[in-house]
Amino acid sequence: MIVIDENPAFFDLVGNVRAMRKLKPDPVPQELLQKILDAGVKAASGMNTQPWSFLVIREADGKQWFADHYRAAMETRFHINADVDPGGDSEGARQLRAIQYQMKHMQEFPLLLVICGLRDWPFKVPEAERVGLAPPNYGAIYPCVQNILLACRALGLGAALTTMHQVFEDELMDRFNIPEEWGVVVTMPIGYPMGKFGPVRRRPAERVTYYDNWGETGAGAKQ
Ligand SMILES: Cc1cc2nc3c(=O)[nH]c(=O)nc-3n(C[C@H](O)[C@H](O)[C@H](O)COP(=O)(O)O)c2cc1C
Repeated sequence: MIVIDENPAFFDLVGNVRAMRKLKPDPVPQELLQKILDAGVKAASGMNTQPWSFLVIREADGKQWFADHYRAAMETRFHINADVDPGGDSEGARQLRAIQYQMKHMQEFPLLLVICGLRDWPFKVPEAERVGLAPPNYGAIYPCVQNILLACRALGLGAALTTMHQVFEDELMDRFNIPEEWGVVVTMPIGYPMGKFGPVRRRPAERVTYYDNWGETGAGAKQ
């Protein structure tokens, strides 16, 4: 019997949806995965086109293929060696250790959710300049991605949004038979977290908000 808290307090939840990179190998029940995907497809999209599709990778050889390519991409593109401890206990060192754990154990996580978006030229690209494949419509997919992250958190599951697949996207599309009209927007391991969700650390909204003209701070009167 799976117990689901249907009413987590929204502002608590949104305040601790962290990238959870250290996951247990325990399986995610299909019932919970379905709830997560159902939350994803509730998102808004331009003209309600709903240009998303999901590929859930659960089989060992598929996960291993992805893990090998992900690790290689992290090593070559970001020069992160999964076996060299950064030392210290700073926030950066702890984040790097979690990334290293993810690099080494990706194949053990119960599932990898590949979130795809239909390719669609951004309005600002003139028709004459539309050559080759359009990028996936990232803007239309991210509300769905955020719904999925929130749903995972609400159900006590950890998830990490990753985009490193861009380094090997063509091979990824070939390996899993993803049709050309789709692009991969996010790859997201999901599973039960090893650590705590904890509060996110962000700059306060007041520091990144201006009123009426760029540079003018203060929510003062006027309304
Ligand atoms: C567009 C985008 C791309 C990201 N790409 C990656 C990624 O490739 N690998 C990864 O481990 N985390 C990735 N993240 C997660 C962020 O690094 C993480 O959420 C951020 O550093 C804040 O940390 P926190 O979620 O633990 O508070 C990405 C997040 C976003 C929104």
